[in-house]
Amino acid sequence: MPQKTALITGVTGQDGAYLSEYLLKKGYIVHGIKRRSSMFNTDRIDHIYQDPHVEHRNFMLHYGDMTDSMNITRIVQEVQPDEIYNLAAMSHVKVSFDTPEYTANADGVGTLRLLEAVRLLGLTEKTRIYQASTSELYGMVQQVPQNEQTPFYPRSPYAVAKLYAYWITVNYREAYGLHASNGILFNHESPIRGETFVTRKITRALSKIALGMQDQLFLGNLSSRRDWGHAKDYIKAMHLMLQQEKPDDYVIATGVTTTIRDFIKMAAAEIGLEITFEGVGVEEKGFLTAINETKFAETVGEQYLPGIKSRLTSLSPSLPHSLSPSQIVGVDPSYFRPTEVELLIGDPSKAMNQLGWKREYDLKDLVEDMMQSDIKLMKKDAWLREGGYRTLNYFE
Ligand code: NAP
Ligand code: GDD
Repeated sequence: MPQKTALITGVTGQDGAYLSEYLLKKGYIVHGIKRRSSMFNTDRIDHIYQDPHVEHRNFMLHYGDMTDSMNITRIVQEVQPDEIYNLAAMSHVKVSFDTPEYTANADGVGTLRLLEAVRLLGLTEKTRIYQASTSELYGMVQQVPQNEQTPFYPRSPYAVAKLYAYWITVNYREAYGLHASNGILFNHESPIRGETFVTRKITRALSKIALGMQDQLFLGNLSSRRDWGHAKDYIKAMHLMLQQEKPDDYVIATGVTTTIRDFIKMAAAEIGLEITFEGVGVEEKGFLTAINETKFAETVGEQYLPGIKSRLTSLSPSLPHSLSPSQIVGVDPSYFRPTEVELLIGDPSKAMNQLGWKREYDLKDLVEDMMQSDIKLMKKDAWLREGGYRTLNYFE
């Protein structure tokens, strides 16, 4: 079989990095579009990066931006891809309320630019397209669980932009016969998930708390529920969609939903900490109520035990809970969204039956993977600090 060429927009993101690695292993030539940034921003693809001076490279980066039609068209022309994976997006729902016009441009019209480039360049027969659609389209859910037939009700500028991208993909498929498919992916996470998404924010913060590098974690809505899977499983579904004879749209999900509160408890339990929540709304707080010392020593390290135990033992019955050093989690309303998506739970039956897609990770595996990775990452900082070196705080 001739070697296939893939073009990935959003190559520096979580999914772009995993997908690049996966396609390279399958023997693809992979081209990625990377935005110009004042820093390198290649951390996630560092391990697959190939020096431009190396002969016969199979992983190449191009500067580009979804808001620049000519740039997108030129890259598609140069690469002549067999498959395009459109993963680039301003992907943070809360931030989209602050940058609605940019989000519409990059996430909505950006998709049109890509589709139109393929059409204008006469590549409709050759090039297959994957569009990164999202469970955020369901927003105020009209049906539980959500499947390919569930009506959309977007609840953020991000979701509205993605709604346009979804329908323009369907339209180009119907109007011009493009092999273009929407993957309606529910939340998927990993050790390389962006640090400001809730799961990674939690696993990073709990790791720092365990190592004595942070006191508390402030979050927004603790009661919303998400259907979380592992990004490593989800990028395989993207590839499968483009290997089908006919293009179509598929839900990719686990079928299990969990509150943010329970995710915190699961992540803490992974390192032997028990967190108990008290109060409601903005007054809700999470306290450290027990430590499994053996588990903590195994997963974090014996030398960090005295520090975490001091947070627990200093809980005095005479002290109001709000002043207690055992408080680990608090609510900060600035993280609330003007309109929230309270519940997502997907039904992936169609993808399982038609694509043969199945996941390898469940939520417990995902949490374990993320916690182990962040403990390791934060330990590096702890050791650097102990050695007198400066480490960064990474403000949100
Ligand atoms: P991510 O980590 O935020 O990555 C987004 C990528 O898009 C980054 O490489 C980013 O570049 C790039 N990008 C942003 N704006 C761009 C622009 N104007 N031009 C070119 N590139 C741009 O997102 P992800 O989690 O990997 O998600 C991949 C895609 O799936 C996104 O479209 C997202 O909306 C969608 N999605 C994600 C999930 C999920 O749970 N992860 C679920 C459903 C759908 P920088 O590195 O320079 O910022
Ligand atoms: N980010 C964040 N930060 N979310 C918080 C916080 C916080 O401090 N506290 C509570 N949450 C809640 C949010 O209000 C939301 O209900 C939930 O945690 C998940 O938020 P995110 O992790 O930011 O993800 P998302 O569901 O809004 O969006 C992600 O998944 C979509 C698929 O459903 C992104 O990856 C989107 O790009 C993707 O389309």
